[in-house]
Amino acid sequence: MSVTILGIESSCDDTSAAVIRDGILLSNVIASQSVHEEYGGVVPELASRAHQQNIVPVVDTALRRAGIGKHDLSAIAFTRGPGLLGSLLVGTSFAKGMSLGLRVPIIDVNHLHGHVLSHFVRRQPDDEVPAYPFLCLLVSGGNSQLILVRNYNDMKVIGRTIDDAAGEAFDKCAKVMGLPYPGGPHIDRLALQGDPKKFRFAKPRIDGLDYSFSGLKTSFLYTLRDAARLNHDFIEENKADLAASLQATIIDILLDKLKKAVDMTGVTTVAIGGGVSANSGVRAAVADFCDKRGINAFIPERAFTTDNAAMVAIAGYYKYLDKQFCSYSETPYARVTV
Ligand code: KG4
Repeated sequence: MSVTILGIESSCDDTSAAVIRDGILLSNVIASQSVHEEYGGVVPELASRAHQQNIVPVVDTALRRAGIGKHDLSAIAFTRGPGLLGSLLVGTSFAKGMSLGLRVPIIDVNHLHGHVLSHFVRRQPDDEVPAYPFLCLLVSGGNSQLILVRNYNDMKVIGRTIDDAAGEAFDKCAKVMGLPYPGGPHIDRLALQGDPKKFRFAKPRIDGLDYSFSGLKTSFLYTLRDAARLNHDFIEENKADLAASLQATIIDILLDKLKKAVDMTGVTTVAIGGGVSANSGVRAAVADFCDKRGINAFIPERAFTTDNAAMVAIAGYYKYLDKQFCSYSETPYARVTV
């Protein structure tokens, strides 16, 4: 009998629902919230309210696009954390209510597991997926982690940021350049026209596999402040070069530890995930590194880099096969590692 999972994602500012049948994606609907743009960041209270408005039509659309009815569902998977509590509560409560109504089980999903497992979402039965064990570089607005993935339910964080995440470095530096939030995609776009060697910013010197981005952020701010004192139009005149140099430094920092982790673990497969893995420079650098080392690279479709319910549904699918269901008394959590 086929297994059909509805996935629900509401951890931050995207309301998403997806349907996966026997590991194959049937639909993936995402409603992004534009309400936060004018505040330069996500406002948790507004995010929760927007999820409340979006969740019913988003789930309804996902079922319709999948060509199924709600009674065809085997289980409902939802993101339990980490994320914004108010936002998570919307998805969690909706999943519980719908599961009670349909008499199907609920499955809780760790959002970070979802990002890692997004590589297992297949559109066609013969789509290639990573072989275990593999290394996943998970880079988003809130996380920068190197994860050794031995199985869908056996992941070990072997490197993590000790301060800012890579996405924060993009966003905070973009903010002082006057770019809209989130700044990562704007830096990516500008960097295409800039000289990555024009400016030099600080790189961390930390042993092991941990990351740090706060020194880079500080040196970026000092460069801007000192130069702007002499020339008011400095940022405007150097936008593309600043973006290209910033992006190149972030990529250097990310790749440096990724290479170390590959050497330490001896893995032959590397995957990337999270919002920053949408960055064209990051994607090219990882693909190039893997190519030179004869390593299999899994670079996600851009639709699966940011928050999406397809990754929640696939994580739920594997848990379903192992009968790992969740009780109705479970509540969301704001913080957790892999
Ligand atoms: O995984 P994600 O959607 O959620 C959070 O962790 O919040 O990641 C969002 C992050 C933001 O910091 C955003 O600037 C960054 O991903 N991002 C990018 C690009 N697209 C999104 N950073 C660099 N280049 C991009 N093209």
